[in-house]
Amino acid sequence: MNDLEQKVVVITGGASGIGLQTARAFWAAGSKVVIADINKEQGERIQLELNSDRFLFVHTNITQEEDCIRLIQQSIYSYGTIDVFINNAGIEISTPLHHMELDEWNRLMNVNVTGVFLCSKHVLKYMMTINKGNIINTCSVSGLVAWPGIPAYNASKGAVLQLTKSLAIEYAAYNIRVNCVCPGIIDTPLNEQSFTANHEGTLATIKKEKSKLSPLGRLGTTQDIANAMMFLASDISSYMTGAALTVDGGYTAR
Ligand SMILES: NC(=O)c1ccc[n+]([C@@H]2O[C@H](COP(=O)([O-])OP(=O)(O)OC[C@H]3O[C@@H](n4cnc5c(N)ncnc54)[C@H](O)[C@@H]3O)[C@@H](O)[C@H]2O)c1
Repeated sequence: MNDLEQKVVVITGGASGIGLQTARAFWAAGSKVVIADINKEQGERIQLELNSDRFLFVHTNITQEEDCIRLIQQSIYSYGTIDVFINNAGIEISTPLHHMELDEWNRLMNVNVTGVFLCSKHVLKYMMTINKGNIINTCSVSGLVAWPGIPAYNASKGAVLQLTKSLAIEYAAYNIRVNCVCPGIIDTPLNEQSFTANHEGTLATIKKEKSKLSPLGRLGTTQDIANAMMFLASDISSYMTGAALTVDGGYTAR
């Protein structure tokens, strides 16, 4: 995947978990990387740590259209183009549906679905002008099967899956590929939060229990997902569009 060296890659939710590891992996492969995140402190900390002219943090709330436009403009201004745009930012709320407030539902849908819509809308406009592009969405196994206890999250990831397929068929004529990655249970801050909020026991024992849910018998790592992102970003996957690449240790194969 030597071609990654030539690529400009933008990653939303790049200040933590899957997004951060993906950003580090592209950076290590020689790409120019822009991370966009609502967490200013963490984004600035990583920019300072890497201290590289190939790495930029743009403070962004993907639910705000003007932020998405600014992110895209700033990325193009800094590095000349955008080759790969990764819609990765997402949140999970595990309230049972009959207790869920409309505000909670809207907050989840705004980040997980509307944010993907807004960023995709504006990056597609740019990619259409250059007649090439590559969009990768972080979906979830929750977009394929219903995960217990998180109905709204499942619905949001189902929407991301269908948006991926829709954009793939609509924009293939512009040489733009759109795929998604469907992670299983990955060891990230987002999951640690949901583990401790929803289960009894120490984090270590909960993780051990969760590991048993996948035939491979372990939680996924953020690097497992970064590897799938790099494959979809590279030209070696050039005949893939509209695909959902499942990386779940076999969870959905049962
Ligand atoms: N961790 C898992 O097991 C798992 C499994 C399947 C899918 N996913 C998906 O992977 C993606 C990343 O999850 P993660 O586990 O790395 O979570 P995480 O909480 O570690 O990282 C998510 C990042 O998104 C950022 N973010 C949240 N709202 C934002 C907004 N409005 N604008 C910009 N940035 C915002 C957060 O600040 C954070 O840095 C999400 O879309 C999640 O749904 C995670």
